[in-house]
Amino acid sequence: MAFTKLPLFLFFIVLHGILFLSHPMHCNDEEDKLLQDINGYRHSLKLPNFTENGKAACLADKIADDLKDKPCDKKAHGYSSFAGSEPKFANFEKQLDKCDINFNTTEDGAILVACGPKIDSPEVLHNYTKTEYAKYINDSNYTGAGVGSKHGWVVVILSTDTSDGTFSGAVSLVPNIISMANFMVALLFGVLLLSVS
Ligand SMILES: *[C@@H]1O[C@H](CO)[C@@H](O)[C@H](O)[C@H]1NC(C)=O
Ligand SMILES: *[C@@H]1O[C@H](CO)[C@@H](O)[C@H](O)[C@H]1NC(C)=O
Ligand SMILES: *[C@@H]1O[C@H](CO)[C@@H](O)[C@H](O)[C@H]1NC(C)=O
Ligand SMILES: *[C@@H]1O[C@H](CO)[C@@H](O)[C@H](O)[C@H]1NC(C)=O
Ligand SMILES: *[C@@H]1O[C@H](CO)[C@@H](O)[C@H](O)[C@H]1NC(C)=O
Repeated sequence: MAFTKLPLFLFFIVLHGILFLSHPMHCNDEEDKLLQDINGYRHSLKLPNFTENGKAACLADKIADDLKDKPCDKKAHGYSSFAGSEPKFANFEKQLDKCDINFNTTEDGAILVACGPKIDSPEVLHNYTKTEYAKYINDSNYTGAGVGSKHGWVVVILSTDTSDGTFSGAVSLVPNIISMANFMVALLFGVLLLSVS
C-alpha cells in the first residue's frame, strides 16, 4: 500500500478502537447517587472513597437485569456472594464475558444484592450501611465499587486492588470473539477506504 495512505489507515483503526472497544459508558444518576451516599458513609468512617469500577458496574448491571423479573422480597440478600463463596448466578460466566472480565479477578470481590421500592429509597442505603453488608462497606481492603440496578433490584460490587479482586480482563488469553470481529471489520473498512481513495 502507498505510504501516504498508511496514517489514514492507522487513524481509522484507532478511531474504531476508541468507538467500539472502550469501556461502556456508565451514566445513571440514581446509581451514581447511591455510590456517593455510600462514599459519604465511608468518609464518615475516615476510609478512602470507593473509586468507580466500570467493569464491576457493567457486571452489576447485567446481574440486576437478570434479577429484574423476580419478585422483590426479603430474599434479596440470598443472591449475594463474598470472597470465598461461589456466585449464585447460573450464567455468571456469560455475564463476565459480556463485560470482558476474567473470572480470576473476581474472587476477592463482594457482590451485594438488595431490593427495595426504589434505588434511592433510604431502605436501600440503610441495607448497605446498617446490615450485615456494612462489614464489607467498612472494609478498607475494598477500594472500588460498581453499581447496577433494575426495577428496584440493586447490585453493588466491591473490588480490591489485589489481582484477585480487580474485576478486570487483563489476564485472559482466550481471544475475545467480539473484539476480534470488530478488528476484522475495521481492517476491512480500512482496506476499502484505501481502495476508493
Ligand atoms: C468522597 O465522597 C464524598 C461523598 O460523595 C464526597 O463528599 C467527598 O468529597 C469525596 N472525597 C474525595 C476525596 O473524593
Ligand atoms: C435489608 O436487609 C434485610 C436483612 O438484613 C432484609 O430483610 C430486607 O429485605 C432488606 N431490604 C432491602 C431494601 O434490601
Ligand atoms: C463499621 O464501622 C463502624 C465505625 O467503626 C462501626 O461502628 C460498625 O460497627 C462497623 N460495622 C460493621 C458491620 O463492622
Ligand atoms: C484485608 O486483607 C488482609 C490480607 O488479605 C487481611 O489480613 C485483613 O484482615 C483484611 N482487612 C480487613 C479489614 O478485612
Ligand atoms: C485462573 O486461575 C486458575 C488457577 O490459578 C488458572 O489455572 C487459570 O489458568 C486462570 N485462568 C485465567 C484465564 O487466567
